[in-house]
Amino acid sequence: MKDINWGELSFGYVKTDYNVRCYYRDGKWGELEVSSDENVNLHIAATALHYGQESFEGLKAFKGKDGNVRLFRWEENAKRMRNSAKGIRMAEVPDEIFIAAVKKVIKLNDRFVPPYGSGASLYLRPLLIGSGPQVGVKPAEEYMFMIFVTPVGPYFKEGFKPVKIKIERNYDRAAPLGTGNIKVGGNYAASLNALYDAHEEGYASSLFLDACEKKYIDEAGPANFFGIKNNTYITPKSTSILPSITNMSLIEIAKDMGMNVERRAIEVEELSTFEEAGACGTAAVISPIGQIDDVANDKSYVYTTGEAGKISTELYKRLQGIQMGDVEDKFGWVELV
Ligand SMILES: Cc1ncc(COP(=O)(O)O)c(C=O)c1O
Repeated sequence: MKDINWGELSFGYVKTDYNVRCYYRDGKWGELEVSSDENVNLHIAATALHYGQESFEGLKAFKGKDGNVRLFRWEENAKRMRNSAKGIRMAEVPDEIFIAAVKKVIKLNDRFVPPYGSGASLYLRPLLIGSGPQVGVKPAEEYMFMIFVTPVGPYFKEGFKPVKIKIERNYDRAAPLGTGNIKVGGNYAASLNALYDAHEEGYASSLFLDACEKKYIDEAGPANFFGIKNNTYITPKSTSILPSITNMSLIEIAKDMGMNVERRAIEVEELSTFEEAGACGTAAVISPIGQIDDVANDKSYVYTTGEAGKISTELYKRLQGIQMGDVEDKFGWVELV
């Protein structure tokens, strides 16, 4: 293996040594298998390919100063994947198999866990797909659960920098009674044009609105949205957004910092009242938002033209500190591998 320059890694795919796989056949899950093949051999009529029976997760493992590898709230990822499976009628992966696969794939790829202090971490991508064939629109009878890992770099190479995003008014990501609240591939397919346009126009991401009334904030690309005002952390309540594990953790940290928390509908106009705004998710923890443009209405909401806000920065430091093992884990979120 070439030496990896941990600090130069992006959020992309790097080949590692092994992945793990488990098959659901005849109504039950089999034994965990180890593979060094990056390819998947799939039936041409697999439901994942035709009817979108596909769900994935994303979580990270961090090496601490003490040399231990830490996992952050994996139970929440396992639970969300079970909900995703229910949402599109797939076989659910039991927690025991989920965590056994997580630990095994980390241990097998130990040399790819970035060192403490590099800012990099090991990203885990669990994947559940309908692998059995169907021609009519029906759920598969066979499923495949896999996890691959890839080392990913620090999200903010040049520091914790505020980004500019745009309100999306040309596309909807998810319907109120659709699949926006589970982590299935179809939601991401539906967001690609919006994200492509946003990037072309120089924005870091799109801010999706509720698909029904176009009145409320949903989420920011692959991240939840939050705003801060009057010592209150405010984040959208909506049936069409993904329950972010980062967001639920920031909520607890905000309370611990003595802030109030509100989870409720946020009207677009309320954007003008926030002191700080951010997007949160596993990839970056927090992307501070400097500016939100509502191009169609010729409006801009500006939060900062320089540094990230004080509260966002404190939330970021506290959560990242817990993940890395630098800050006491008083919430019991971290598990050693
Ligand atoms: C649509 C969407 N929203 C929010 C998030 C953030 O969720 P989490 O904090 O669990 O990574 C993600 C990333 O998983 C996502 O894909």
